[in-house]
Amino acid sequence: MPWGPLWGRLSDGQSRLKSRLRPNWPPSNWVFISRPIGNRPSPLAASQSGPKAVQLLFSCACHNAHMQEVNIGIVGLGNVGSGTLAILAGNADQIALKLGFRLKVTAVCCRTVATKRIPESLGPVFRTPDWREVVAHPDVDIVAELVGGTSVAAEIVDAAIANRKSVVTANKELMAACGPEIWDRAIRAGINVAMEASVAGGIPIHAVLREGISGDRITALYGILNGTCNYILTEIEKRDAPLETVLAEAQQLGYAEADPSADLDGIDARSKLAILAALAFGEKITPSDIFMEGIRRISPLDFHYAHQLGHTIRLICAARQTPEGLILSVRPALIPRSTILAGVQGAYNAVWVKGTYGEDTFYYGRGAGSLPTGVAVVSDLMRVARE
Ligand code: HSE
Repeated sequence: MPWGPLWGRLSDGQSRLKSRLRPNWPPSNWVFISRPIGNRPSPLAASQSGPKAVQLLFSCACHNAHMQEVNIGIVGLGNVGSGTLAILAGNADQIALKLGFRLKVTAVCCRTVATKRIPESLGPVFRTPDWREVVAHPDVDIVAELVGGTSVAAEIVDAAIANRKSVVTANKELMAACGPEIWDRAIRAGINVAMEASVAGGIPIHAVLREGISGDRITALYGILNGTCNYILTEIEKRDAPLETVLAEAQQLGYAEADPSADLDGIDARSKLAILAALAFGEKITPSDIFMEGIRRISPLDFHYAHQLGHTIRLICAARQTPEGLILSVRPALIPRSTILAGVQGAYNAVWVKGTYGEDTFYYGRGAGSLPTGVAVVSDLMRVARE
């Protein structure tokens, strides 16, 4: 078989990254500059914290008849953008209750904006096919960049930062390639950048690495980070279906990238691993540091052989700390069928983190799709608006 077991030794040509500590990336404390946005007063007095503050927050949300708003501009109304919009409309009251103020969508942009249905409950929303009008709009406090790719998306993020507007993005490719530079510019401009939706859709793995287990020293991270590949692999396994058939289904379900090569060849998973490994190990990691092999060569026959060995096959993103440095790879791997990663089916993602002190933790959820990724975007909007 062309791939090795997950826990095996690396073959020649696989990346071994020497330690390159870079204090600014990833930001060790990705809690942003506390600057009031728009005309919103802080719902909490600085001295208040804990249950009393939560109580105040809720009562503020419930009783303030003149509730203030933070204004959102959304650029990109594709799969993730439309999920984000649906959640901001459908869950508006819950969000306001939790924040103590409303998130208001004031502007949206996409090339075919005239044909897009905007939920009526959002009220009047400025629509434009020109992203510049959203970024420069005086009634936009936070820009959600949901177009993907690295060319126009980079311009949008740069322009938002230049306009001193905070940015929420789902763009793994851009953040893996240019995250440190974007972050440096954001710090200088005194604004926030949040990117939870860029990796593992509905799993809040950034928050876990940034805060939840930041006190641990991580020794290894293994992830299933591409929903399309995991969907394809599990369907080939279940139905003996050819890869092309299952890929078409994944595209219909809204999991696959515009160019599915990014999924099949491991490029998407590699960008996600670069971001997660940077957060987990505190090093600057670029996608080219990571060995990559996709799933194009896998056929139903491979699963028959794997099963005879008591294994299955998954596209595994791995980052391991060794005395020689980090070892990083994205490749199809044999996984013992008895392990928790082998049970990750369909478009679900999972991340297994090994720490020196806290040992093993495991995170699981939908890794792709309009609404799960939309939840990550909306939660980032809430966090940025709060901060
Ligand atoms: N194409 C990606 C995937 C979308 O399948 O995981 C979510 O990043």
